[in-house]
Amino acid sequence: MSAHVVVVGSGIAGLTAALHAADAGCRVTLVTKDVLEHANTRFAQGGIAGVMFADDRAEDHMRDTLAAGAGLSDPAAVRVLVEEGPARIRELVALGVAFDRGADGEWVKGLEAAHSYPRILHAGGDATGTAIEKALVARLRASVRNSDRSGDLPTDLRVIEHAFLVDLVMAGGRVAGVDLLVGEAPGRAGERERIEADAVVLATGGAGQLYAHTTNPPVATGDGIAAALRAGAAVSDLEFMQFHPTVLPGDEAFLVSEAVRGEGATLIDDTGRRFALDAHPDGELAPRDVVARAIAEQMERQGGRPVRLDATHLRANAEETAAFLARRFPTIDAAVRARGLDWAREPIPVVPAAHYLMGGIVTDLAGRASLPGLYAVGEVACTGVHGANRLASNSLLEGAVFGARTGDVVAADAASGIWPAPPAAPVVEDRPATLPDPGGPAFSRGALQHLLWEDAGLARDADGLAHAASVLAGWRAQPRDPRTEAELEDENLLLVAERLVAAALARRGSVGAHYRRDAVAVLEGAA
Ligand code: SIN
Repeated sequence: MSAHVVVVGSGIAGLTAALHAADAGCRVTLVTKDVLEHANTRFAQGGIAGVMFADDRAEDHMRDTLAAGAGLSDPAAVRVLVEEGPARIRELVALGVAFDRGADGEWVKGLEAAHSYPRILHAGGDATGTAIEKALVARLRASVRNSDRSGDLPTDLRVIEHAFLVDLVMAGGRVAGVDLLVGEAPGRAGERERIEADAVVLATGGAGQLYAHTTNPPVATGDGIAAALRAGAAVSDLEFMQFHPTVLPGDEAFLVSEAVRGEGATLIDDTGRRFALDAHPDGELAPRDVVARAIAEQMERQGGRPVRLDATHLRANAEETAAFLARRFPTIDAAVRARGLDWAREPIPVVPAAHYLMGGIVTDLAGRASLPGLYAVGEVACTGVHGANRLASNSLLEGAVFGARTGDVVAADAASGIWPAPPAAPVVEDRPATLPDPGGPAFSRGALQHLLWEDAGLARDADGLAHAASVLAGWRAQPRDPRTEAELEDENLLLVAERLVAAALARRGSVGAHYRRDAVAVLEGAA
């Protein structure tokens, strides 16, 4: 009997891992808490980075990735990413992802911040994630339909949608399945269901919902990290939350891709002055953390008002600029215009928002976590590839590269029944030595998001982090009995928030996305 693998999550990492594991002969059950298509992947605008052009070099992509990671990336992981990336991108092309081509028939080269070469491929202008998600889901659904038949598609794949990961099941010292809450709907309670497995691959994405302002969809509540923590898996680098520099402010923040700045849009203050050049010689195309902080600081100087992104000069006149923006960035163009703004004629307001978690479940280069039988891939994982700051458009690439590796390896590990030694877990100080704050606000998701935005956001210091830690400890001390999906998500957010704040307190120097206002003079990268 072939090994049974449960994959949790349906973004690029989970879908790729599931397809590869099935191709390698595993029985695969993919579970996802919404419908397959509703993963964070579909919101990725900019594109996928990869060495796809003859005059680009893997060494250069590697150097750019390591530089963005601010000295904390694992060079071996980065090498895997850049060297295996092109093959994975070609696989996506073979699945039907139509990356945009120019009049000459060649792929259009996109530039984003901190890349030394325009190596970003995009699809549908700014709808790359949607195009990739669609192609992978179509392939997966075709495989599921084919489950009983023979043919060239994998033959033993099933999908359970609306299935929320409650916890990992441990048996005999290894991860042996998942406990789920299945079928919850408005007015209907979900049912608990246990699925046993030889191995579990977590591909549950990040935790942007920790913050009051985020580019992430509502599903990004840190479920996989929290389940792994409860099971005792090693988790690291949670202090490294990347803030995207440019989103449209509002109740629902809307990402304005870095590719817009890659096309030449500039950031201006209330007086119309370009301020990003004060922070870094690369100005608007400096590393993300630098630009995001420059914006936050400028907002502080101008009474909290958003800065503005000026795309009005991208073509010779307003009509040509409007046509260009609509063609190159159709998704953003629609969102901008839906807010009553005409970005071909006037600069638009932008603010930073939480975007991507570099830390996560510690894995080796094949997705193996520190518990036998557990694997993690994509944003939920910490392979070391991103260090302290992810390079633009390396996230889809990571999902494709490490999703494939994990899918291939899980099949071999599960078939052999011999679980390789887990990766060494880094030593992290993860317990806040703090007393609960009895006078803090009542616990709610909104209160937690506000707390983290204020005290553990783009710029942190010991006082703010200690305050956050004590409020979180106060919430932890309160009795709760989470049953619904939303309540379970809130518990996950609380747990991940505690660990994030503790990690941010422990790392007293500034590095990459972790910026301490009160940084002590320590070597960059030293905690
Ligand atoms: C963007 O399009 O700016 C986001 C892409 C990414 O997060 O890499």
